[in-house]
Amino acid sequence: MLADVVLGIQHGDEAKGKVTHYLSKYKSYTHVLRFNGGCNAGHTIYHEGKKFVTHHIPAGVFYGVKSIIGPGCVISPEHFFEEVKELQEAGINLHGKLFIAKNAHVITGTHLQEELTEQKIGTTRRGNGPAYRDKYARKGIRACEVPSLSSYMIDLYEEFHSDTSVKVLCEGAQGFGLDIDWGDYPYVTSSHCGLGSVFLNGVSPRWLRDVWGVAKIYETYVGAKSFEPDEPVFQALRDLGEEYGATTGRPRQCNWLNLNELQKSIALNSINKLVINKMDVIRELNQFKLYFDSNLITFDSEKEMCNFIVAQLPNNIEVFFSEDKDRI
Ligand code: IMP
Ligand code: MG
Repeated sequence: MLADVVLGIQHGDEAKGKVTHYLSKYKSYTHVLRFNGGCNAGHTIYHEGKKFVTHHIPAGVFYGVKSIIGPGCVISPEHFFEEVKELQEAGINLHGKLFIAKNAHVITGTHLQEELTEQKIGTTRRGNGPAYRDKYARKGIRACEVPSLSSYMIDLYEEFHSDTSVKVLCEGAQGFGLDIDWGDYPYVTSSHCGLGSVFLNGVSPRWLRDVWGVAKIYETYVGAKSFEPDEPVFQALRDLGEEYGATTGRPRQCNWLNLNELQKSIALNSINKLVINKMDVIRELNQFKLYFDSNLITFDSEKEMCNFIVAQLPNNIEVFFSEDKDRI
């Protein structure tokens, strides 16, 4: 048994979808598992030249790998069936490939309704917070109680623990900067976005092989708190990087990379493979800056910046600098 994990290690939108899609193609997994979050997520995936935005459904379906929405997730049947329809219409075969853990919780119509006017946190208004609240208050509804979902039900104890050939890719949603405990509370999501979350979904910690941390060479955040410095360069960055929400279309606030926060996410999540995306965006912008130890550091070149970053990271971590235009 073996498990690899893909985690966002900033505030979501680090292009985890691209990494999971790539790994599902090349690493011969038996399962891809989403382990946290709901349809607040928006994973942009380019598959065979076509653009897809998935919310609930794990990226394994694109390569016919058994894909599971785990018990750490909350699921809106309404949005789930919409997504199923969209993928099927685009020719993706989901038959016998898509499952929902029977103990996952449900985002109800009331949860969605309740969030329609939410402004304090700037949520995605997908009923995520209310669904987790009701789960922990022990008045939630589980997926196994919803008749329309019955053909998708799976028990992850039976699925993962009766077969030694299990090789699972665990696909995180959001990012560690939005984690309910480690993020900037209350400007966080309502689930755990870090490594520990994986092991609440039937995966054993002993199966762990690689933890892929996904970051961007700059940072973005969507929500109610102020994140972006008041400088015109960030509007240019937003446009070059196409930093508009995949789920809500909202403009993402932008800022330079915070290297201390990156170090913290790497340490707290045992990251051993680090992907830093969107190098081509800052190259086009021609500005190479990051925050480190409360200073804003400016570099003369991309190379100098990359070398500086690598020098501040643990030795045993493999770093991949990647471009937005690298489409798998
Ligand atoms: P919620 O998860 O919809 O409750 O939103 C809580 C916070 O997390 C808000 O700041 C959202 O913008 C942010 N958020 C939730 N999901 C994502 C995501 O997939 N990408 C980026 N930000 C997200
Ligand atoms: Mg996203």
